[in-house]
Amino acid sequence: MVLTRVTRVNSNNPEPCKIDMAARIISKGGLVVFPTETVYGLGANALDPSAVKKIFLAKRRPVDNPLIIHIQHIDDLQTFAKNVSREAHKLAREFWPGPLTLVLEKSQRVPEITTGGLDTIAVRIPSNNISLSLIRTAGIPIAAPSANVSGRPSPTRASHVLEDLYGKVDLIIDGGRTRIGLESTVIDMTSTVPILLRPGGLPIERIKEAIGKISIHPSILNPKNDCLQSNKHYKTPGMKYRHYSPKADVILVEGPKLRVRNKIIELARRMKNEQSKSVCIMTKNMNNNYSADIVWFVGNDFETISRNLFEIFRYVDNHNIDAIIAEEIDSVDLGLAIMDRLRRAAKEIIRV
Ligand code: TXA
Ligand code: MG
Repeated sequence: MVLTRVTRVNSNNPEPCKIDMAARIISKGGLVVFPTETVYGLGANALDPSAVKKIFLAKRRPVDNPLIIHIQHIDDLQTFAKNVSREAHKLAREFWPGPLTLVLEKSQRVPEITTGGLDTIAVRIPSNNISLSLIRTAGIPIAAPSANVSGRPSPTRASHVLEDLYGKVDLIIDGGRTRIGLESTVIDMTSTVPILLRPGGLPIERIKEAIGKISIHPSILNPKNDCLQSNKHYKTPGMKYRHYSPKADVILVEGPKLRVRNKIIELARRMKNEQSKSVCIMTKNMNNNYSADIVWFVGNDFETISRNLFEIFRYVDNHNIDAIIAEEIDSVDLGLAIMDRLRRAAKEIIRV
């Protein structure tokens, strides 16, 4: 058990004394949880193997699942990556700081434990003032996976981090709710045609506009196949691990809007008869007549839905709910990342 301090930091104008304290903990090999624009990250000195080991222990994360390294400046790529392509530079210049992670060839400077033994690194510059001032003040790259225990939803508030990591980290910086609410987009830039490994906070349409063609990893189109059977096919080790599934059964209903609506009415009614406690996740005000115990209007637009999704998952886990019934939304823009997280969480996908 570690003594965990919690400090509230102003995200518009981070207090230097608090950032100094956090940076000192990172430099000495400790663990600091900090907000990024996507989700909260569990940070340690990326170049210190024993500090990085603490991340894996605190999260109970398998050691072959590599971490994202958060840097402060594009020039740092020269130190930590090799053979960075023209396209990768272009994406970095255009979208950093921001919710985009690039997978690149790794240099000798990065210890193996940080990259889960791979010869590539995943790297990004976050666009949150607290993260940026922490990385700058510490003067070292910070390895940070999402600050949840493995298998739980990524945290979008400091209170979520407290649920998972209290007593396991030295400091939690509370910088309020994260702006995006879903993790960064991960692109493998080491293959001839870049590959989308995880849809996230930066829509792929924006990336295509910048560099043209990118291919989509099959596990995104078909997450339930997940490449679980064969070790050969995953490009990102994260894909082979079970993704977050709430304790409740997630039932995702996909298809034309009217049919989806009718199916959900039927499912909600059946659950009510069976005395199951259910939640309908509703978007775009499609229907407010679902007879579920809770009908949750997540939002009309992708930004609001993405900010709320993990919050709802955590709420459901904490309130003994038996089932979540969710409507399909369009897999474009941020909708691709939202649908990806819903499909991975789903026990059943019903096509109507
Ligand atoms: O928004 C985010 O990306 C947040 C914030 C804290 O930056 N971080 C985050 O980290 O979501 P994590 O560890 O929860 O997810 C990182 C994903 C994992 O699926 C991991 O397998 C993959 O990136 N990854 C990391 N390094 C990789 C590499 N060298 N090659 C392929 N995939 C990699
Ligand atoms: Mg994660």
